[in-house]
Amino acid sequence: MSDFPKPLPQLAGVNAYVPGEAPKNTGGKTYKLASNENPLGASPRAKHVYAELAAKMDLYPDGAARELKAAIAKKHGLDVKRLVVGAGSDDIFLMLGRAYLGPGDESINTAHAFAIYAIIAQQQGAKVVEIAEKDFTADVDAILAAVTPRTKMVWLANPNNPTGTYLPYDEVKRLHAGLPPHVMLVLDGAYAEFVSKNDYASGIELASQFGNVIMTRTFSKLYGLAGLRVGWGYAPEHIVDAIERVRMPFNVNLPAQAAAIAALEDDAFTEQSLAHNAAELPRLAGELVKLGLSVIDGVGNFVVAEFPAAKGKTAGEALNYLKDRGVTVRSLAGYKMANHLRISVGTTEANNAALALLKEFLGK
Ligand SMILES: Cc1ncc(COP(=O)(O)O)c(C=O)c1O
Repeated sequence: MSDFPKPLPQLAGVNAYVPGEAPKNTGGKTYKLASNENPLGASPRAKHVYAELAAKMDLYPDGAARELKAAIAKKHGLDVKRLVVGAGSDDIFLMLGRAYLGPGDESINTAHAFAIYAIIAQQQGAKVVEIAEKDFTADVDAILAAVTPRTKMVWLANPNNPTGTYLPYDEVKRLHAGLPPHVMLVLDGAYAEFVSKNDYASGIELASQFGNVIMTRTFSKLYGLAGLRVGWGYAPEHIVDAIERVRMPFNVNLPAQAAAIAALEDDAFTEQSLAHNAAELPRLAGELVKLGLSVIDGVGNFVVAEFPAAKGKTAGEALNYLKDRGVTVRSLAGYKMANHLRISVGTTEANNAALALLKEFLGK
């Protein structure tokens, strides 16, 4: 046994997060459809502001992110005192874990939930309780049945990544109503802006009304700022207070704060991005169905397709076939969906490239 410092024992159980792969250099055109990024890039206004701020690298950002919070509050009609910002929404989840989860606590997530929730709970030494889904969708009754006096947190991405499915707001409200007040409901709305269903809401209202709900959003998807790392959360003031006690003082950097404000104000870019997604998401899904694949009915900015189990046609083989030809998509083997692949909505050109390769791969 070495005498070197030992990490916390709970870290032995953590499977580190595996990000979507960048395309390999094939000498030709390549496309990354593996991380649900905005295929149209970032808001031109945000890019301009970011470039200008290269001259201010020597300055610390405003740790309280006052201007950014004011801009978010204005955009969504929120109370600025209930806002928290993070270096991506991941940072907010981490702060929630640090503030609320410890050994002996239970943390609930669904079987195909976004991986970070379980990683954070494990890092904190809490027990991860994983709840089976129905048709790749969160099952409210099953979640409620798993709640115990030790349950501290229920995480729900709505819509969920990687499945793309969502719970109607009535179901989210039913979930919340069934939770005891000591259980926090984390509503992760990373893909909220893409949902155009009448029965959907991200949960701002629940977070405004109740003492045990936080709703989070990100600038990484619709706003195209994944590389800058900006996310925000809306919660009762006592949750904001707890987060502030674990937050690093300058967690969102200066150009990121300014670019996020500019992105929020760039309606032309977000409208264009939403219109692109609204057209390409059903087209991509429809074309995959025409290739004989079954597709999960998702509402985010990505499509999930199931591949045959037969050798030569599997998801793993399709993944490699695409990768070798310059297109990366997401393996879902780590999400207990080894027969599925997740394909982000790309530019029309990128989507066509992926579809043409899959057609070839499947011998259609
Ligand atoms: C459901 C969900 N939540 C949160 C995130 C994290 O986003 P970020 O940390 O970039 O805000 C992602 C990123 O893929 C996601 O899919």
